[in-house]
Amino acid sequence: MDHFDIRDGVMHAEGVSLAALAAAVGTPFYCYSSATIRRHYQVFADAVAGLGDGDPLVAFAVKANPNLSVLATLAALGAGADVVSGGELARALAAGIPADRIVFSGVGKQVHELEAGVEAGILQFNVESEAEIDMLGAVAARLGRVVEISIRINPAVDPRTHGKISTGGADAKFGIPWDRVPAAFAQAAAHPGLRPIGLAAHIGSQLFDLGPVEDTIRRLGTLAQEMTAAGHTIKRIDCGGGLGVPYRPDQPLPPSPADYAAMVARVTAGWPWRLMFEPGRMIVGNAGVLVSSVILTKDGASKHFIVVDAAMNDLLRPSLYNAWHDFRALAPRAERRVATIVGPICETGDTFAEDREVEAVGAGDLVAFMTAGAYGATMASTYNSRPLVPEVMVNGDAWAIVSQRNQPAAMLALDARAAWL
Ligand code: LLP
Repeated sequence: MDHFDIRDGVMHAEGVSLAALAAAVGTPFYCYSSATIRRHYQVFADAVAGLGDGDPLVAFAVKANPNLSVLATLAALGAGADVVSGGELARALAAGIPADRIVFSGVGKQVHELEAGVEAGILQFNVESEAEIDMLGAVAARLGRVVEISIRINPAVDPRTHGKISTGGADAKFGIPWDRVPAAFAQAAAHPGLRPIGLAAHIGSQLFDLGPVEDTIRRLGTLAQEMTAAGHTIKRIDCGGGLGVPYRPDQPLPPSPADYAAMVARVTAGWPWRLMFEPGRMIVGNAGVLVSSVILTKDGASKHFIVVDAAMNDLLRPSLYNAWHDFRALAPRAERRVATIVGPICETGDTFAEDREVEAVGAGDLVAFMTAGAYGATMASTYNSRPLVPEVMVNGDAWAIVSQRNQPAAMLALDARAAWL
């Protein structure tokens, strides 16, 4: 459920007309509904409340939407953060997420990023390789700190999602193969500055099938028992993120947070450990849209093209994953036609939808790509020297620009003419 509805003939985000926003900030722009973000966080947090030791941590996966106001909205609700870079760590802290609710994941953390996390005093690092154990051990020793770590396992399961966002297979780059966990714990425990206190997994994103997640959480529990028997003190089990969201109204719904929590409750009944979750997409996916204008329409040999002012650099998911984003006119039209929706970028991959039946929009019409709140603005680039688009947040009848459109001149100013030119 979201808060993008047609009122008085035009799509609104909560109480604010997206057409009025387009007039104020220009297109394209992202618009986020804070009521939707709050609702989705609350639904998830309520669903998992009381599981494990009774005090689960919901650590929002910052990569899904790192905007400072999005993070601050979640911080106010008590969310933690799952970060994967020094940049995301800085954003989470700046947004007011307490360090002791931050977990640092990632397969290639650099020494300066490990140092930043240790110095900030974050809750834990999810360590993904034997080499990282030694790197972090050295950093902790140098800084004179004791750091709690979880071992992210590679559970060797098939999460049955798109190959590019599947992370749990045996050949994925993520985690330590689960049968090497005992050795990894022993290796970590030998570092005076490391305390191996937990296990973590994240098997993929946009998951519709809870079976592989269940297998993975069971594996984490078995390993936690084994590590306890081996003399280690286990405190936390991190179940990762991955719950899918509906992108297409004509397709079956993904499991709900309640379905997911019921599965976790069944698998983890009686566990004494604190449970952690890292949802990203399900918190912010439906909370954002990308608003664009139709520049022109044209007819090819056999296709009708709608050329919009947003492009693959603004919303990469259709080009990269063949992802579906619903395309709607801000002022709904009864007339429909089959069209191919493209941006202005000079490659054929700059296609949002191919031969799709959509509302028959024309030059100057305002349109929206739906469900663009997760992995939208955060994956944008400046390809074709197109400026990054602004992000706007709505809260009831109020709105604010929460990220500025960068200007071509500012982008050009980052370049320099080499002295010999
Ligand atoms: N935790 C870890 C360690 C992750 O790598 C991810 C996502 C999450 C949590 C959050 O997963 P979520 O709940 O959002 O599914 N760019 C792709 C998605 C990549 C996801 C990467 N990892 C897309 O646009 O579909």
